[in-house]
Formats: sequence, C-alpha cells, structure tokens
Amino acid sequence: EGIGLDFTQITLEMEDGWALLTINRPKVLNALNQETLQELERALDEVERRKEIRALVITGAGEKAFVAGADITELRRIETAGEAERQATLGQTLFTRLEELPIPVVMAVNGYALGGGFELALSGDILLASDQAQFGLPEINLGVLPGYGGTQRLARLAGKNTAKYFALTGDRMDAETAYHLGIVQRVVPAANLKEEAKSLAAKLARKAPIAIRYIKQVINQGSETDLKTGLRLEASSFGVVFDSQDRVEGMDAFLEKRKPSFRGE
Ligand code: CAA
Repeated sequence: EGIGLDFTQITLEMEDGWALLTINRPKVLNALNQETLQELERALDEVERRKEIRALVITGAGEKAFVAGADITELRRIETAGEAERQATLGQTLFTRLEELPIPVVMAVNGYALGGGFELALSGDILLASDQAQFGLPEINLGVLPGYGGTQRLARLAGKNTAKYFALTGDRMDAETAYHLGIVQRVVPAANLKEEAKSLAAKLARKAPIAIRYIKQVINQGSETDLKTGLRLEASSFGVVFDSQDRVEGMDAFLEKRKPSFRGE
C-alpha cells in the first residue's frame, strides 16, 4: 500500500506493521536535494501519526546507490556562509528527528552511502548493508566538510581517529570494513538485502512498542552522558515500562508457554 502518494522524490509504502521509505532519485544516485529533505520531513510526520507503523526501513532506489550525498548541483548555488550554516542545521535537525523517532529505523544500505547518504545511514538504529555497499565522507574532495552530522556521529560510533581518517582522506570503505568498525550490524549478499530488511522490520514490529521506545531512548541519551546518569535513566525507564499492559502480557505469555501479543499499551 502506497501512502503519501503525492511524493515525487521518495516513496513511502505500508507493509505489515512497518513502513518502507525509498529515496527515489536513481538518476542522480538518490542525492538529497531540498525537495527530498522536505518530503522526508513529511514522511516522518506520517510515520509518527500512524500508530500502526512500528518500524521503519529506509533504502535507496536502484542497484547502485543508497544515497550519494547532498545534491552537489544545489550546494554549488549556495552563496553565503549563513545560507550554508542554515542548510547544515536543516539536514542535522531532520536526521536527529529520525534518530529520535520512537520506533526502530533500519537502514538497508544497498550501494553508495556517501556524504549526506552516510550521514543519513548513521542516524538509523540498525544498519544492514549489501556486500556491494560503499561508505564514505568525500566532502573533503569538494573543499568542504560533512554537514549533516557525519563528523559527530561517526566519531561517536567508530572513534575519533577513525572519523578523522575517513573525513580527512575522503576514502571509501566497503561493507565488511564498516562491519568491523561497528558501523554496520550485518552484511548480506546484495540479492538478499530486501528480504533481510523485511524480516528484521517484521520482527521489530512484533516487539512491545513501549519497551522498544525506551530502549532506543535510554541507549541514545545514555551514550551522551556519564555512566551514573545513564544508569539512573535506565532504572527510571525500567519503572515506566513496568506500568505497561504489554509487560504483563509478555511475562504471562512466557509463563503460559505461548507467544505474546503486544499492543503498545
Ligand atoms: N549530487 C548531485 N548529483 C550526483 C551526486 C550528488 N551527490 N552523486 C551522483 N550524482 C549524479 C552524477 O552527477 C551523474 O549525473 P549525470 O548522469 O547527469 O552525469 C549521476 O548521478 C551518476 O553518477 P556518476 O556518473 O558520477 O556515477 P559513477 O558510478 O561514475 O560514480 C559516485 C558514482 C562515486 C558515487 C560519484 O557519483 C560521486 O562521487 N558522487 C558524489 C559523491 C559525493 O561527493 N557526495 C558528497 C556530497 S556533499 C554532502 O553530502 C555534504 C553534506 O555532508 C551535507
């Protein structure tokens, strides 16, 4: 089922309990222009509004690219520092919103994930990569730096000097390297990527939504704070989740030796 049919740069499809968002500009390797960013924003509105969506998968159209970065044709037209700063802030805000979405976001990286495309992937919760995927921050080769969160998220995820290496050289890494650096959680043959993403999303969509939301939040917030603060956050969230009907259902189902059915209550 297609939802948000007036999109022209992306598609958003409803699957069984989860949604599939595809960046759909294959002629320019799915580069992110203004219109695409605006449609992404609207897609997130829709995803948040529809409570039946319990997981989101993001991928790129075509065989070759996930997203090859911000649209360089548009970037070239930026004339002032202020305009550039606003552009970076806009992309950062969108990707942070994605990172903070109350449902899990799976990035199905099907090819080039460069610059803004790598930064988009880094704002997901779980990264699945095709064995053909390539990751990199080539902004240095354009005489600029990553502007949609890459310097910060890659450094936090893979370490400061790993981030420096890739941002300073613009070198690309393959999926296997991204896996060994802890950026990607699983590498699969290109032909299986869709199927793997689908079954992962379906699995996540069957979990208890409130617990899912708090797990995401506690790990995201906790990784930005000291251990004691993080542990307090974990304990208070553990308390909140115990107030849910789903935790009664989950524990009853275990004790009754049946599968739980979670309703997000
Ligand atoms: N913006 C605009 N157009 C792009 C693009 C981009 N980021 N990436 C690719 N395209 C276009 C190409 O211009 C080309 O268009 P034409 O057919 O009209 O010539 C088309 O997509 C196909 O690309 P190529 O012919 O270059 O394909 P290739 O297989 O030879 O190379 C590639 C593939 C290595 C990914 C190469 O396209 C490339 O280097 N792309 C740019 C990558 C990049 O620099 N990304 C960073 C952008 S800046 C950024 O993202 C800033 C930020 O942090 C916010």
